[in-house]
Amino acid sequence: MSIAAYQPLCERLGLDPDALPYTPNWSAAPDFLELIVDHVLARKPAVIVECGSGMTTLMLARCCALNGGGHVYSLENGADYAANTRAAIARHGLAQHSTVIHAPLRPYTLDGREYQWYDVGQLTIGAIDMLVIDGPPGFIQKHSRYPALPLLRDRLADDCAIFMDDAARPDEQEIVEMWLVAVPPPAHEYIHTERGCSVLRQQPHKAAPR
Ligand SMILES: C[S@@+](CC[C@H](N)C(=O)[O-])C[C@H]1O[C@@H](n2cnc3c(N)ncnc32)[C@H](O)[C@@H]1O
Repeated sequence: MSIAAYQPLCERLGLDPDALPYTPNWSAAPDFLELIVDHVLARKPAVIVECGSGMTTLMLARCCALNGGGHVYSLENGADYAANTRAAIARHGLAQHSTVIHAPLRPYTLDGREYQWYDVGQLTIGAIDMLVIDGPPGFIQKHSRYPALPLLRDRLADDCAIFMDDAARPDEQEIVEMWLVAVPPPAHEYIHTERGCSVLRQQPHKAAPR
């Protein structure tokens, strides 16, 4: 994906294309960004949490500015990537709408398996209206992004929308299968973007018939 592919989104959002936090092969693709941008502009979430900072952080923060409210809390395990994203946010004057949290990975045990995931000790925020999952990187471990839902589930607003990038990959497809056994299971929609996008929403718990 070349940086030129982001030009239409930059024009739409009034962003300077020369100041993007672009990382070849690692930045979210424009079609995934368009999905999350459309959601933020339409639904105006107040609290957005994302896993894995960069291009997504900038686009989400710019949408919050256009909405006149909202804040992106970005969990980033790499200190250098966190600094790069913060610098891009500052270049665009969006610091009011974004907090990039350097959250090193730490061990968590879930269903008897150990995972490395972001230390969310510093994430002291209200209910999460939107969750964007684009990290930690898959090379860290199998099912790297699985902990997002079990660890944040209790902090999601009832109508929270969850967007996971790279959902065309077998590892992410298995993660969605693992999430869908939760009680109650979230509703899942797969969107055919270049790398695949899974959108999940919490469903109200239906009482068992008597
Ligand atoms: C898929 S990237 C996140 C991309 C981000 N959401 C964006 O749109 O730019 C997931 C994580 O990989 C790490 N990462 C980014 N670029 C990398 C690179 N070139 N090599 C290794 N890891 C990288 C960072 O810690 C990042 O949070």
